[in-house]
Amino acid sequence: MKHIFANWKMYLNLQEAIDLAKNLAKKEIQNNVNLSVFPSDLAFSDVVQILEDEEISFGVQNVSDVPKGAYTGAVSADIYSQAGAQYALVGHSERRHVFGESLEATKNKVLDCIESGITPVLCIGETQKDLESGNKEKALRKQLDIVFNSLDGKNTDIMIGYEPVWAIGEGSSECDPDTAEQTHQWIHDYLEIDSLDILYGGSVEAHNVNGYLSKNCIDGVLIGHAGADFNQFSELIKKLS
Ligand code: PGA
Repeated sequence: MKHIFANWKMYLNLQEAIDLAKNLAKKEIQNNVNLSVFPSDLAFSDVVQILEDEEISFGVQNVSDVPKGAYTGAVSADIYSQAGAQYALVGHSERRHVFGESLEATKNKVLDCIESGITPVLCIGETQKDLESGNKEKALRKQLDIVFNSLDGKNTDIMIGYEPVWAIGEGSSECDPDTAEQTHQWIHDYLEIDSLDILYGGSVEAHNVNGYLSKNCIDGVLIGHAGADFNQFSELIKKLS
């Protein structure tokens, strides 16, 4: 079973998210696929209502790093869980690099998700600068250590999204599937957890999705721009073998 996770980011307004969900409801989804959509907070409940009878699950793009209290504008993992979220992205590159999310915050978010019964998808990735300076593994280790050193056991329900920062966004460079696979293998070896699902993300589109999914160590894909457009998303789903 491969995971196909579509992060709609802030690409769609409310009506566009509702329309995309209605269109997806009419689509045939392969049995061997765990399809999950990550709408905006505002569209989340409408999308759940439209798709709850389909073989589709739901995730959120971010959660608060504190569980409850006087935190204006924040939404906790627990609140999202009650609204039907099964997954939450934590530490997405845009949260880390645009919003300045700290390593400590990613750790707290992961712990709050687990406490609330949501599977966190811990997103990690190296920047172009890390890559060019030979610091790729160092950057990944830092993002993994803060979280995995605070987890009790190795059987915790958590997923990893490996997303090289330089490969994210329409028109960015693509990470070739062999390199992505080697990095996934490196993550497995580093964490010494065999059963961990690791998704690949960064410019995944219809033309390259099977290249990634054909690799044993790649358990699924995290899709950004190509998952927020019905035509591109349909094309990608059709390609899945
Ligand atoms: P992209 O985004 O597919 O638009 O590169 C991926 C992501 O940010 O998860």
